[in-house]
Amino acid sequence: MKYIKLLLLFVFIQTQAQQGGMWIPSLLKGMNESEMKNLGMKISAEDIYSINKSSLKDAVPHFDGGCTAEMISDKGLLLTNHHCGYDNIQSHSTVENDYLTNGFWAYKMDDELPNKDLYVTFIIRIEDVTTKVLEGTETMTSEAEKQKKIQANISTLTKTLPKESWQENSIKTFYDGNQYLLFVIENYKDVRLVGAPPSSIGKFGSDTDNWVWPRHTGDFSLFRIYADKNNRPAEYSKDNVPYKPKHFFPISAKGISENDFTMVMGYPGRTQEYLPAVAVEQIVNTTNPAKIEVRDAALKVQDGFMRKDNAIKIQYASKYASIANYWKKWIGETKGLKKSNAIGVKQKFEKEFQEKVIKAGKQAEYGNLLSDFEKNYTEIKDYALARDLFSEVAMRNTELLQNGYRLYQLEQLLATKGEQAFTDRKNNLSKGIDAFYKDFNPTVDKNVFEQLIAIYAKRLPSQFLPNELKNLDANKLANDIYTNSKLVNLQDFRSLLEGDSKTVLEKINNDKGYQILKAMADSYTKSVVPKYDEINLKNIATQRTYMKAILELSPKSARIFPDANSTLRVTYGKVKGYKPNDAVLYEPITYLDGVMEKYVPGDYEFDVPKKLIELYDTKDYGKYSHKGKMPVCFIATNHTTGGNSGSPALDANGNLIGLNFDRVWEGTMSDIYYSPDICRNIMVDARYILFIIDKFAGAQNIIDELNIIYPKSKKQVKK
Ligand code: ARG
Ligand code: ASP
Repeated sequence: MKYIKLLLLFVFIQTQAQQGGMWIPSLLKGMNESEMKNLGMKISAEDIYSINKSSLKDAVPHFDGGCTAEMISDKGLLLTNHHCGYDNIQSHSTVENDYLTNGFWAYKMDDELPNKDLYVTFIIRIEDVTTKVLEGTETMTSEAEKQKKIQANISTLTKTLPKESWQENSIKTFYDGNQYLLFVIENYKDVRLVGAPPSSIGKFGSDTDNWVWPRHTGDFSLFRIYADKNNRPAEYSKDNVPYKPKHFFPISAKGISENDFTMVMGYPGRTQEYLPAVAVEQIVNTTNPAKIEVRDAALKVQDGFMRKDNAIKIQYASKYASIANYWKKWIGETKGLKKSNAIGVKQKFEKEFQEKVIKAGKQAEYGNLLSDFEKNYTEIKDYALARDLFSEVAMRNTELLQNGYRLYQLEQLLATKGEQAFTDRKNNLSKGIDAFYKDFNPTVDKNVFEQLIAIYAKRLPSQFLPNELKNLDANKLANDIYTNSKLVNLQDFRSLLEGDSKTVLEKINNDKGYQILKAMADSYTKSVVPKYDEINLKNIATQRTYMKAILELSPKSARIFPDANSTLRVTYGKVKGYKPNDAVLYEPITYLDGVMEKYVPGDYEFDVPKKLIELYDTKDYGKYSHKGKMPVCFIATNHTTGGNSGSPALDANGNLIGLNFDRVWEGTMSDIYYSPDICRNIMVDARYILFIIDKFAGAQNIIDELNIIYPKSKKQVKK
């Protein structure tokens, strides 16, 4: 008995440890493959990535350079998130055909909608080119010289390494410059919208539920890739044919249970898992709080106006959502880093690291890394804070300053690139600014400005504060600018840009709004940027050597994965609930009952479509229910980040069981420190997607294209 308990404990600790990490698909053999098999995987590393046969990686393209997607039929049908397809769905929407509100379904291929500029990227193969990239840099001592040579090598190799004429080469760095991999890719440019549920399903819960578990969002949309007659990439043409992928995912309607193996493939954007404790401390105590404070103020102002005025709500909804997304993430991240004692854990790691350095006799090479970090991060602190404040206040959240900054760049352009470049940019700016003013409300922005400029003056280290903002009366300044500046409406803005460079510069420099932005930007570019860049370059070099040392001094079995860099990765874990707080336990699966619990008729976040309520009332769930209930979302311990949206969640056999779209709030620290106790990715259950396509939209044409694996007992059921 005792022996069995001990064994169970051992297995538990093992499988706990075997989670987290974003792994390179071509390098899974060995440690990853055996971990995955221990966790329950039935397929092999060769099934996931192979250069000799079709493999799972052939079904997972990068979607529009930012999200992930997966192929689900042999006719180019692709699944991704609603929030990833959002801009394209919106671009086809009009007042009469509002696809965001009502959804869109193509019941035949002819009805599918082409999307200008949308593209999808497949990976053909991955090769290690580290030696070639670093050639000729071995003896260089100057960091700047070395980086220049590396960039030159990359650019030559990208052009000369073998590939087909319709393919591209792309070289990316891993482990902070310790490894370089070549990706041979194919970009498909004819991608058409096939289906999207109404926002009341695809965006159900909106900002209130964003980053939150329990979740009830059907965050999916469908597109189709078209290719030329040879199945190769082509610009949009009526003559193009549906793309035939090398692999597409069967969809499992068998369902999942807690502790089932899951894996997620996708294109995570950026993580910083190997930062030293001192850097994490700076994020927790300095930069995150400043960024949160700025966005907090901007959001409160916008929300106040949006609640009172429907026109403003339409103008600001999308901007609000995008400001709120990372605002909420940083709050969760900061809390999670504190609660999990991430700084303490890193300090302990560093103490052990230092001992290993001594034991290996590597003091000369690696002995000063941690003290260098300490010195650099102390030195960079004020500059990093100033940089974040400038970007949040001037470049991101005050619209008038944001637009002023465009003029500032225009003025710089004249100095650096001359008259022609100036005129070209000026004309583009004048032409392209309509969209900005269409959604700009000067009263809202004035109130945002007043709040944010006050925070800027208060929080910015005083040595960087321009004279114009000393002894600031924010209310008076806001009144002055928003009454007198020509930046507050389209006609006036355009009139500023009329005339030759001399006239334009004279006009803009006389503008009150531009003057303030320019004072801020001048101080920023002169006193902050050069020093920040100088220290940051040192940090980058230190980080690279630190990473090299970690790789070198860790045992072969250590789980060291390269930080995310928007390349294809595999992460794996188990379906699992979690404990967010004392006495609270979250279950891993949500159901349609939860949608109805959250239902607020007419509410912009929690309304539910009539048809869905009918299906719920009659329990008309087709073959997709589980014990009479309709599953909606589930969570697991997969290590994901921004960019993993739209990623396929796969079962032990490599079949699609869900669609990744978010993480739980308590675990958003996973970009800096992953803990299997609390970090969970959120997925839409594949059964909910099938149910919506089939029962809600009645798109039998789409269902017929799919390869659906039903549970045995339901195989015979006729629809
Ligand atoms: N938090 C998710 C991710 O970063 C989803 C964002 C879209 N949804 C939203 N309600 N804003 O990107
Ligand atoms: N929602 C994110 C995305 O759009 C995913 C995440 O951050 O977990 O990529």
